[in-house]
Amino acid sequence: MKLSTFAGDVTAFEGGLVAVGRAQGAEASEAEKALDAALGGALSAAAERLRFKGKAGQKVALDTLGKLPCARVLLLGTGDDDTPAGLRDFASGAVNEALSQRLDRVGLVPARAEDARQLALGARLGAYRFEDYKKVDEEAPPARVERFELLTDAAVGDALEAGDALADAVCLARTLTNAPPNVCNPQYLAEIAADIAKAPNVTLRVIEGDELVKLGMGGVLAVGGGSSSPPRVIHLTYHPPGASKDDALAFVGKGITFDSGGLNVKTAKGMAEMFIDMGGAAAVLGAMRAVASLQPDSIVHGIVGAAENMPDGASYRPSDILTMYSGKTVEVLNTDAEGRLVLADCIHYATELEPRGIIDLATLTGACMVALGPYYSAVLSDDEALCEQVLAAGKAADERLWRLPLDPKLAKTLESKRADITNLGGPYGGAITAAQFLQNFKGDTPWVHLDIAGAVLAEKDDGHIRAGATGFGVLTLWSLIEAAAN
Ligand code: BES
Ligand code: ZN
Ligand code: ZN
Repeated sequence: MKLSTFAGDVTAFEGGLVAVGRAQGAEASEAEKALDAALGGALSAAAERLRFKGKAGQKVALDTLGKLPCARVLLLGTGDDDTPAGLRDFASGAVNEALSQRLDRVGLVPARAEDARQLALGARLGAYRFEDYKKVDEEAPPARVERFELLTDAAVGDALEAGDALADAVCLARTLTNAPPNVCNPQYLAEIAADIAKAPNVTLRVIEGDELVKLGMGGVLAVGGGSSSPPRVIHLTYHPPGASKDDALAFVGKGITFDSGGLNVKTAKGMAEMFIDMGGAAAVLGAMRAVASLQPDSIVHGIVGAAENMPDGASYRPSDILTMYSGKTVEVLNTDAEGRLVLADCIHYATELEPRGIIDLATLTGACMVALGPYYSAVLSDDEALCEQVLAAGKAADERLWRLPLDPKLAKTLESKRADITNLGGPYGGAITAAQFLQNFKGDTPWVHLDIAGAVLAEKDDGHIRAGATGFGVLTLWSLIEAAAN
């Protein structure tokens, strides 16, 4: 999809679909009135008949039957109008109307030129489909929108470019997460990282095999031990010239490319969607893709703990005691609490880079979904300043975050008789005890944990969110970097 502007009059837009928005309770815009006039009042008549009030998602669509140079006009309700996600949904609504009508060119009238980035992003995200593994029907190939044009004479080229780059990043995270685990294994994630590392100022270190052993990454080695696809720690560094180490951020992602539960094997139902258990890694790689394209001023590390959790003769066992990269020992009480073991080594590795903050993203617990439902991600942190920044970044990106407390009393459920700590908390507050396990490995570095178990996957299409992987986290991480630059 090519993103551009069209500076002419709305009634002069040729081909495809023209979309205008109306906020809830607002009057028709000049553009809407001009289209209505050209259609002899048909748009306002249809809006009246359909009780169109501008509620988010409400729509009126008409073929123009030669009265305008475009084939179809769409009036979309934009609800509260100016939230980032609302803007993305608006553009997505226009693109999806065009796709359903097999129109390949979309013109959209923005209410404000400064919305250009979110609109571009929404157009691309709304058009996202995961069809890599489906045969193309030559007689009716999938509809495509080739051109998306904002009808404005403002100079919004940079905003469109940024929206496009962020869309690439979110789509990468979505596609990695949607990809089947027989394809998307630890080696595959390393190959994606190598591709990102082709950009200027980006370098890659992949730790695998004997090097993991030599470094003593006991968590990563244990979790990956049962798989024929060996584990890897993937470390991308973005270091622009002249950047100060003091401003560096480190993103850490859980990259369990399939979570069978290991010897504590999951039920068939519990295992069905566990190809998404690398959603945290996908968000980190997506964010690094955005960093590689948009070249911000500060240092960013992207670290992925990639492993497949499988039952096998070489698997780690419940009752094993692991010596972790940090030197702490962990008594394994459940091999299905594997993400925290991989993350623990990666978080300790991140502390050695001395960043100003570590943000980890993980599909860590089912308990998080029980607590917050499928749309919110949990935020847990013992650093008020960094936590505030992450929550503000979530707001700016319009990704739903909700803070949960760390509770030292609850952390006692991780105490072990045989080792420094166990990998399994008590029956309650599972999202919290999982975070408190991780807290043991962050040292003195400010750290924020995001449990994205719910938000990683959408059950159905919903505006710019499409059914399947959402790419959750990429936009929040980018907003965090962007906020630091201002
Ligand atoms: N990957 C799962 C968590 C998960 C569950 C993510 C559902 C997305 C949807 C994680 O590794 C896991 O198995 N967690 C266990 C922890 C338990 C053994 C302490 C869980 O949530 O049941
Ligand atoms: Zn698990
Ligand atoms: Zn898992």
